[in-house]
Amino acid sequence: MEVAIIGQGYVGLTVANFAAHFYSVCGFDSNENVVSQLNQGKSHIEGVESTLLEKHIKNGAYMATSKGSDISKCEIVIIAVPTPLTKERKPDLSFIESACKTIGENISKPVLVINESTSFPGTLRNFIKPTIEKYSLAQIEHQFAISPERVDPGRTDFNQRNTPRLYSGLTPEATTKTREFYSKFCDNLVEVSSPEVAEAAKLFENTFRQVNIALVNEFAQIAHSLGISVYETLDAANTKPYGFMKFSPSAGVGGHCIPVDPTYLAAVAEEHGAPATFIRRANEVNLEMSEYIVRRVTADNGGNLQGKNVLVVGVAYKPNVADVRETAAELVIQHLRSQGAVVSWHDDVVRNWKGEDSAPLNGADIAVVVTKHDSLDEKKILASAPYVFDTTGKVKGAKGL
Ligand SMILES: NC(=O)c1ccc[n+]([C@@H]2O[C@H](COP(=O)([O-])OP(=O)(O)OC[C@H]3O[C@@H](n4cnc5c(N)ncnc54)[C@H](O)[C@@H]3O)[C@@H](O)[C@H]2O)c1
Repeated sequence: MEVAIIGQGYVGLTVANFAAHFYSVCGFDSNENVVSQLNQGKSHIEGVESTLLEKHIKNGAYMATSKGSDISKCEIVIIAVPTPLTKERKPDLSFIESACKTIGENISKPVLVINESTSFPGTLRNFIKPTIEKYSLAQIEHQFAISPERVDPGRTDFNQRNTPRLYSGLTPEATTKTREFYSKFCDNLVEVSSPEVAEAAKLFENTFRQVNIALVNEFAQIAHSLGISVYETLDAANTKPYGFMKFSPSAGVGGHCIPVDPTYLAAVAEEHGAPATFIRRANEVNLEMSEYIVRRVTADNGGNLQGKNVLVVGVAYKPNVADVRETAAELVIQHLRSQGAVVSWHDDVVRNWKGEDSAPLNGADIAVVVTKHDSLDEKKILASAPYVFDTTGKVKGAKGL
């Protein structure tokens, strides 16, 4: 069976690499540099080993392409393209629309279309299906299903095989075919009664994290004002064996999911006249953390950062990945600069960001740790500046939340 996966990023390439053990996979991506690297067997995604990619290519089980006509023979097409927010912080379905155009214009026989991109309930039924039909050259009865992706890049204990996968089709036939497709490489498939339930579940999972992270970030500020350790208090609360789940404070939330997906849920809620006040406020609290941290750093340094050399340590949005999308480091740097600080950053995993290279981990007046990769040595961080503020709780001996 031939499978096309539109979008070869974190989600698309991860799924491609598992699926290529069982199917012939065509990875379609609009970025020609990505395609060229992939066809040389070079993976750009943590968790997808280049050696395995090379093996799939040698076996004829994988190829990448930017040519729409290359997907024309596929029987299953998976959509795995970005679903960001617009400048006005509204859902941006333009990447999905363009993926639908590629499918509509290049596939002339009935196939199963599965959406793995995260979006609000109703996207499959009311946007993907009619958009593909709009771009199709003839009237074709495709099947449509959703199976929201849960990959956590960089994670090794949970993968495509052992992470339960939700799925549902617009028709019973689509549901059955979707189950058959994933059952080759996923051991725990969970069918739900409609695509809308699967779409909503994905958004709620990430909203749950966003709201709890905001709560613990607010609590970190309360604990500091009371003169108690937020970490010790959380560990104490965590001794309760039921009804409590520990989240850790931070400089904010980053990545393509948690700062974005809850806004998709809020947008669809408000469109239907339902309140989303909790979700909106959680987003604000997380965004405000960077300013709070800079206020704390400024207060500890005589109330003035003018001309001080500040090194931001770790700019990836989470440890051990090179992903900088929506990273909290960006806002921390902005607030530091607005206080007159001269800011550079160090991150050996990211290496280059916004045209700037990672700076050495030494010689600063102040260091602010936003993300601590496992490879970063605690002692070296402590030696990088006379004053170190740690937002991660992982650098013992530093000032912190
Ligand atoms: N990254 C994650 O951890 C994660 C986890 C679960 C779900 N998701 C969701 O999966 C979707 C994809 O996210 P991602 O992290 O893989 O994004 P990504 O940015 O890593 O990859 C997307 C890829 O799609 C390509 N692309 C964009 N538009 C295209 C088009 N019209 N045709 C072909 N290729 C196109 C880009 O060049 C890029 O390589 C999003 O909806 C995201 O919310 C992401």
